[in-house]
Amino acid sequence: MKNILVVGGGGREHAIIMKLAESTHVGKIYCTPGNGGISKYAECFNVSATDIEGVVKLAKRLNPDMVVVAPDDPLVLGMVDALQSEGFMTFGPKKDAAIIEGSKVFSKELMKKYNIPTAFYEVFTDSEKAIAYLKEQNSYPAVIKADGLALGKGVIIAQNEEEAVSAVHEMIDDLKFGKSSARIVIEEFLTGPEVSVLSFTDGKTVVPMISSMDHKRAYDNDEGLNTGGMGTVSPNPYYTEEIARECMEKIFIPTIKAMNAEGRTFEGCLYFGLMLTPKGPKVIEYNCRFGDPETQVVLPMLDSDLYEIFEAVYNHTLDQLDIKWHSGACACVVMASGGYPLSYPKGLEISGLDEKGQTENCFVYHAGTKLSDDGKFLTNGGRVLGVTARAENLQSALDTAYQGVSEISFENVHYRKDIGQRALKALE
Ligand code: AMP
Ligand code: GLY
Repeated sequence: MKNILVVGGGGREHAIIMKLAESTHVGKIYCTPGNGGISKYAECFNVSATDIEGVVKLAKRLNPDMVVVAPDDPLVLGMVDALQSEGFMTFGPKKDAAIIEGSKVFSKELMKKYNIPTAFYEVFTDSEKAIAYLKEQNSYPAVIKADGLALGKGVIIAQNEEEAVSAVHEMIDDLKFGKSSARIVIEEFLTGPEVSVLSFTDGKTVVPMISSMDHKRAYDNDEGLNTGGMGTVSPNPYYTEEIARECMEKIFIPTIKAMNAEGRTFEGCLYFGLMLTPKGPKVIEYNCRFGDPETQVVLPMLDSDLYEIFEAVYNHTLDQLDIKWHSGACACVVMASGGYPLSYPKGLEISGLDEKGQTENCFVYHAGTKLSDDGKFLTNGGRVLGVTARAENLQSALDTAYQGVSEISFENVHYRKDIGQRALKALE
């Protein structure tokens, strides 16, 4: 049996761990740092996910058969390289490939060079020049993006010149996101339904997973601030077979080839954030990892052994697998702390969960929870829980997930009541 160490501590990692636990090959699962809910299924350690030296040390102590690095920061910082140089089998891209998420300037230049459809853009390091460009374009909304990682908050959709100018000053002059915003991308505003497509790739073969739809804004009807994601459904009804074929041909394969041509072979999960514009599908962003909370609806739909897939990616034998998916649909509703994505309290007691942190009919992926000394689940983050259900169709998956949500509570809990409504309309 194979023992596995998963690096990370959110709902995505909880979903990865639960899928790995189903594998007939997998023995013990470790997680660092994990969280309250994860600790019921995996042995957790308190080494931070960005502490490369600490994770390598932990891996040397535990000697797992595989280390899965799930979050963006350690991937971009080169944790996989560090683990591989100590002889560990890993899942996740190396630093030189993770740059596809780590630098928006890199990814935009890659797409331009290899003719991969994306929004038109310009790069700036000088705020005066950026503002002059915005004034000359005089086209709003304008999309302003920090070059580097910014906890999912580095994209500003400015509705007018005033908002655009202040975003530029905050990013370049005030370094709102530190070094990450010293360089910015200003790009064309695209419209159309958004689709998330995660894929497995070993650098030779790319296997798209089932599609999903995120709900990024904090409030119903897509109002309020952008968040890490307030809920997801899978599959995404806008992503038809015809569009999937077009994306394979014009986006997925060209991206894998482009990364190879640059000497930056991508091995791991490559996430395509797509917009289905009137002029065809275009790339909004790449992520070098599983999405959160997309993973919480995609992996429950997987009908194949996740460990075998991870092993095939590492061994470059993905072409030999026939990866299967369940029919039906999956829905995840995120229960967040009141105030998220701005400030919120931590340490509030969560009621309605059983001993394992679950409810009867849903799977509850823990995102930000911890256990109190007397074994109670407490809130410990902005996104707290992802209440998830899989069913024969989207409506029943949503009904079951919302039933689960109604059984759980904590002070000032906030969740969207309209997860999946847009998808249901598209299915009509
Ligand atoms: P990102 O963090 O890059 O996923 O961007 C956050 C959100 O901003 C995306 O999910 C889109 O809804 C929106 N967005 C990003 N780029 C564009 C664009 N060029 N046009 C319209 N919306 C965009
Ligand atoms: N849910 C979007 C992301 O993981 O970036």
